[in-house]
Amino acid sequence: MDTSKLMYRDGLMKGERILITGGGTGLGKEMAEGFLKLGAEVHICGRRGGVCEETATELMDKHGGKVVPHACDIRVAEAITDMNDEIWAKHGPLTGLMNNAAGNFISRTEDLSIRGFDAISNIVFRGSFYMTHDIGKRWIDQKLKGNVCSILTTWVWNGGPFVVPSAMSKAAVNTMTQSLAVEWGRYGLRFNAIAPGPFPTKGAWARLSPDSGESSMERGVANPMGRVGEMHELVNLAVLLMAPGCEYINGQTIAIDGGMYNASGGNFSALTAWSDEQWAAARSAIESTNAEDKAKRTV
Ligand code: HXC
Ligand code: NAP
Repeated sequence: MDTSKLMYRDGLMKGERILITGGGTGLGKEMAEGFLKLGAEVHICGRRGGVCEETATELMDKHGGKVVPHACDIRVAEAITDMNDEIWAKHGPLTGLMNNAAGNFISRTEDLSIRGFDAISNIVFRGSFYMTHDIGKRWIDQKLKGNVCSILTTWVWNGGPFVVPSAMSKAAVNTMTQSLAVEWGRYGLRFNAIAPGPFPTKGAWARLSPDSGESSMERGVANPMGRVGEMHELVNLAVLLMAPGCEYINGQTIAIDGGMYNASGGNFSALTAWSDEQWAAARSAIESTNAEDKAKRTV
């Protein structure tokens, strides 16, 4: 990211200690860079411990400050508790949580096995709740203020054909955001979410656009603004929600998609036209990406 495009003054996030799940890659890494540049202490976690370590080193070499990598699988509630115990003991309480980790792939729903459904929903639906619940309880017990932001998609409003487990799970996290904003507002905790349109990342593109562009991921053309998102745009919005100054925003899900959801629904409905051969090719490409990433997991 071009950090000169951050809209905020240096030091804005000094004193913040923020955990970004899935912060080793993609949008999570971009947000980690933005928060770090603005003075926050950043913690990142993922199953590929080495990837998180490389990201932490790269960002600290570039900007100084403190980025702490953690190998943690958010599908495992006990692993979350262990990581958070360690953060609290060694570094101090978190002030914010960015629920960013996710899993997804395009598939006809009739081709999904139960394991395929669980692979996605256990990360997005369960993992996001486990993390929010563990950290929220700590904040309540210790009478600390806290701030949670979740990265969703615009499918939470109109459904996601060909990504049904993701759409169902993200919609559930949207409901969690609205519910806890009300239930836990009295404790000084707030909950918001961001619904990005297409922001090219390796992880998402390999699983949602394995044909490199023919599917609807490279939808600059279907976008009212004629382009995909730029990372600094997403990061500036994330800072607005995670930094002090706008704390009265609570219970909101904000789209950043160039207007695509309003123009075309912003989902994968165009894949209805795909042939069996296209689906077979997509699956095979996705499965090789999955295997490549899995080989790097340390937890
Ligand atoms: C059908 C598939 C499949 C495919 C995998 N499966 N790929 N089924 N079509 N293309 C099935 C497998 O056959 C298996 O079922 C089951 O899913 C579990 O596969 P595993 O590889 O064992 O899963 P696991 O190791 O748990 O990995 C989870 C994962 C993987 C979700 C499958 O892709 C992952 O770790 N992803 C993390 C990163 C990621 O997805 N990033 C993209 C985020 S983008 P069987 O029954 O055969 O055993 C995003 C939204 C972007 O979220 C929005 C853009 C607008
Ligand atoms: P990405 O690079 O693949 O990011 C996903 C991250 O989640 C990875 O770092 C992955 O790390 C981590 N993760 C997955 N399962 C995990 C688990 N069980 N425990 C811990 N970490 C886990 O893709 P991305 O595009 O940046 O996606 C980031 C977020 O943006 C996701 O919530 C996605 O749904 C959302 N989003 C993206 C776009 C887009 O256009 N890119 C649009 C809308 C929404 P490990 O594999 O190492 O665990």
